[in-house]
Amino acid sequence: MRRESPGRLVVASAAKVNLFLEVLGRRPDGYHELETVFQEIALFDEIEVERVGGAEGEIDFACDLPGLAPPGRNLVERAARSFLDAARIREPVRIRLRKTIPAGSGLGGGSSNAAATLLALDRLFAARTPAARLEELAAALGSDCVFFLHGGSAIGRGRGERVEPLRDLPSREFLVIVPPVAVSTAEIYADLAARLKADSDLRTIPLDELRSEDPTLVRRSLHNRLETVAFARHPELRRAADAIRAAGIDHARLTGSGGALFAVFDARTGASAAAKTLDSASQQPSGRVFIAASVSRRP
Ligand code: C5P
Repeated sequence: MRRESPGRLVVASAAKVNLFLEVLGRRPDGYHELETVFQEIALFDEIEVERVGGAEGEIDFACDLPGLAPPGRNLVERAARSFLDAARIREPVRIRLRKTIPAGSGLGGGSSNAAATLLALDRLFAARTPAARLEELAAALGSDCVFFLHGGSAIGRGRGERVEPLRDLPSREFLVIVPPVAVSTAEIYADLAARLKADSDLRTIPLDELRSEDPTLVRRSLHNRLETVAFARHPELRRAADAIRAAGIDHARLTGSGGALFAVFDARTGASAAAKTLDSASQQPSGRVFIAASVSRRP
């Protein structure tokens, strides 16, 4: 999914789901220590970067979805600024972002866009930035950005920025339901902080189940510590999860801090039948529905 001409590049920027997300505790810096399993999925935004020429200039950024962030604050612009500063490049660039991944849904769209922008600009200017430096820039932009530099399946530790690739998860297909609820990640973590002591039954990453070809094992091992607080703050999310369950899909989980919910299917059976079941259910969850396959790690 990469089109090129001299001085211009179009790259895809994928979404993720968290197959597992445990919160180990609150850190002195205000962030939370995590153990998570990221899975990149084939739901894509598109980012176009272009060299405009000239010696000195601005980042000309626009997005087809207005109101994502105030001017200068979109993660794409921030990523571009940090890359150009780090590489000491003053040439102006034009960047266009075309959104498909719903924002504020826990699907990692903003973080993915930031990572894709770093990689695209590195290539556009043939800068050959060392991987460790790109990871540093990505980590400063957001906790999930480092994961998206390589994608695929990976364990995330620390704030989520310490990434260890998982090479052997089977291909899967995901049904993703995005209720029309804007969720603030910071608010969900703040709610969780108040009840961390009460939750003492910490889980460890169920690697054997996640690696299993049997979808029932994977479904049983899905876990997201943020789900209870997200449901408590946004009753619409709980109602959507209940409606999905009532339609016969009994294992849907929240991704990240929400509000998207997802269900997992093996690649052969696929998620289409489940999507049809949902579509014909008497009590349908409101929101957008996507089917997306897992994506493998980039070399
Ligand atoms: O890193 P990012 O900007 O994506 O995080 C958004 C907010 O989510 C942070 O400001 C913080 O409040 C919360 N967060 C957290 N612990 C993490 C990741 C995020 O508390 N590991």
